[in-house]
Parts: sequence; C-alpha cells; structure tokens
Amino acid sequence: MAKIAPSLLSADFGNLQDEIKKIENGGADYLHLDVMDGIYVPNITFGPPVIRKLRKVTKIPFDVHLMIDKPERHIKDFVDAGADLITVHQEATTHLHRTIQEIKSYGIMAGVSLNPATPLESIEYVLGDLDLVLIMTVNPGFGGQSFIESMKGKIKRLRRIIDERELNIIVEVDGGVKLDNAKEILNCGADLLVAGSDIFGAEDIEHRTRQFKQL
Ligand code: DX5
Ligand code: ZN
Repeated sequence: MAKIAPSLLSADFGNLQDEIKKIENGGADYLHLDVMDGIYVPNITFGPPVIRKLRKVTKIPFDVHLMIDKPERHIKDFVDAGADLITVHQEATTHLHRTIQEIKSYGIMAGVSLNPATPLESIEYVLGDLDLVLIMTVNPGFGGQSFIESMKGKIKRLRRIIDERELNIIVEVDGGVKLDNAKEILNCGADLLVAGSDIFGAEDIEHRTRQFKQL
C-alpha cells in the first residue's frame, strides 16, 4: 500500500486543526511540514512555534522538510517542537554529515533532500547514515508546480542503489504529485509520496487522502 504525507503548505492556514483531522481520518502516514525561510527558497512559511502547537492536536508523525539556509542552527528547536523526521537539503548545509549525526543524536529519523539539479552522487558517502532520501520533483519553494518528468530516472536509480546495497532507506518524492501520476511514481520505486495541492485543494480532503492510500 502507498504511504502518503500530505503537505500542509496547501492547507487553509486559518483552520489548521480541522485540516489535519481530515487527512488523519483519511489514513495519512505523515504530516509533511514545509519550513521555508525566504533565503534558501523565495517563500516564507512557519517555524517551531506553529509546529509545537500542532503537535498537541494530532498523533500523526511529523515529517519536517527544512528549506532553510544552514539548518544546523535550528535542528534542536524542531526536535523540541515535535518532529519525528527532519529532512535537510544537501545544498543548504555546510557539513552534511555532521548535520545528519546531530538529527540522529536526538533519536529521530534523518533525511536528506536533493533539488532537481543535484546529483545522487552528492550523498554517496552519507547514504549509510540516512533513514530517508527526499527527491524533489519541482524546484522547492511553492506548492502547485508541475512534476519534472526527468526526475523519474533519478527515482529509479536511487531505488536500484538502495536495493543493491540492501539499505533501509525510505524514498520520498515531493512536488507535483497528483492522484493521476502517483501510481507511475510508485512504480519508479518511491515509498512515500508528498502531495500538497492535490490533497488540500480537493473538494473532499479526507476522501482524496484515502484515494492515495488505496493506490
Ligand atoms: C515545495 C514543497 C512541497 C509542496 C508540494 O517546495 O516542498 O512539499 O508543498 O506541493 P504540491 O504537491 O502542490 O506540488
Ligand atoms: Zn516539501
């Protein structure tokens, strides 16, 4: 069965508690939280105070996607706020290995995200330390963009490397994922799909979440 992480970025920010209930009832596996700082990406969203409040209203695991410059400055804040998984961008942190070790030292899962133009080779020497690799299939910063088709080859290659080396790493795919291309992306080797606009933009959010789960 597909695993799904609805991205709160496309939810109604004035009604977060209700929005989260809907995806929870629909069987979502994680809540994907897009943290943006206006520097690493052009957009600004929310930070630890909001996440800390949300932690009180739901039991669903928090998948925190940090699109911030030098995320190593804030790891502890996001752990304290309630993150179950923290993903940093390979391109945003100066000492990637150190940042991964810090995340893991708090006993939560560590992920690394790769922008569309960033090669898989850039994480060659940290793969063995990771719980998750997030393949960006749009350029980070905004919801509602189109899936970049050439990323399918990247997902397949990552899957092959993980299988060949018998690594225990979740392959997460983020950006432009919709009900109508999700099956194909899963077939490329994804384990966990992020979907923002296609879930929170749906007429019936709970039902749309369930549709993803049933793929
Ligand atoms: C983009 C974010 C995504 C975004 C996906 O920078 O990382 O998680 O919310 O939105 P959709 O599913 O609309 O492409
Ligand atoms: Zn994201």
